[in-house]
Amino acid sequence: MEVLLESGGECVALVRINRPEARNALNSAVREQLARTFVELASNDDIRCVVVTGMEKVFAAGADIKAMADAQPIDMILRASERNWGPIKDFPKPLIAAVNGFALGGGCELAMHADMIIAGASAKFAQPEIRVGIIPGAGGTQRLLRAVGKFKAMKILLTGEMVSAQEAEAMGLVTEVVPDDEVLDRALALARSIALLPPLAVRKIKELVLQGGDLPLEAALVMERHAFQLMFATADQKEGMQAFIEKRSPNFTGL
Ligand code: CAA
Repeated sequence: MEVLLESGGECVALVRINRPEARNALNSAVREQLARTFVELASNDDIRCVVVTGMEKVFAAGADIKAMADAQPIDMILRASERNWGPIKDFPKPLIAAVNGFALGGGCELAMHADMIIAGASAKFAQPEIRVGIIPGAGGTQRLLRAVGKFKAMKILLTGEMVSAQEAEAMGLVTEVVPDDEVLDRALALARSIALLPPLAVRKIKELVLQGGDLPLEAALVMERHAFQLMFATADQKEGMQAFIEKRSPNFTGL
C-alpha cells in the first residue's frame, strides 16, 4: 500500500503517503488509495480531524510524470483524476497537511486541499508544471490565487520556482512553520485540540469558509447567520454555554 492509514491519537487519523522510490509522486494507485481513504474517514464517526503527511524529504513530488508523458487528451479525460480528488475536496472534517521537504505540483495542490498547512523550516513549495509543458491540473491555479493573491500566484505559476516555507508563510500559503522534526507532532497536536471541540460547529465553520469565500458577501453572510442559528439546535451549544456558566470544562458529544 502506498497510502497508509494510522491513528493520530484520540479521534484523529493520520494519512501517510509512502511511495519513496518515486518521491511520493501521485500515480493513479496513490490517488485512488487517497480517495478511498478519505471516503472512509468522512463516514467514520470516531474520526473528527485528519492529518495528511508524506515522508521526511518529500511531501509529494506531484503527479507521476512518467505515467503521463505519452498520454493523449482522451487518456487524460478517461483517467478522470477529478473523481479521486473529489473526496479530498469535499472532505467535511478539518484536514491538516504536515509538510516536510518538497510539495511540488500535485503535491502542493494536495497541501492546498487541506484547511491548514504546517510546514517544516526546510519545506519547499512549487507549481513546476510549466517546466514540463503543462499547467496545474488539480486546482493549483485557482487555490493558489485565492490563498496568496494574483501577484504572488502569477510568479509561482509562471516560473515554476520553488518557494521556501518562510516565504510561503509570509504570503499566506502556510499556517505555521516549525522545525522540521516537529512538523508531524505539531500537526497532530493541532488536530487533537480541534477534535475536542464540538464537531458540528467545526464542520459548519469549514463549510462556511470554503463555500462562503466564493459567494457574494451578502449571500455568504446570510449563509453564516442561518448556520449560526442552527447551532442552537445542538446539545453541544447547550453544554458549551452551561459549562462556561458553571465554570467547568465542557464535554462535547457531537450532538
Ligand atoms: N513523477 C514521476 N517520477 C518522479 C517524480 C514525478 N513527479 N518526481 C520524482 N520522481 C522519480 C524520479 O524520476 C526518480 O526516479 P528514478 O530513480 O527511476 O530515476 C526518483 O523519483 C527520484 O527522483 P530524483 O532523483 O529526482 O530525486 P531528488 O531527491 O534528487 O529530487 C525532486 C526530488 C526535487 C522532488 C525531483 O524529483 C523533482 O523535481 N520531481 C518532479 C517535480 C515536478 O515537476 N512535479 C510536477 C509534476 S506535474 C503535476 O503535478 C501536474 C498536476 O498538477 C496534477
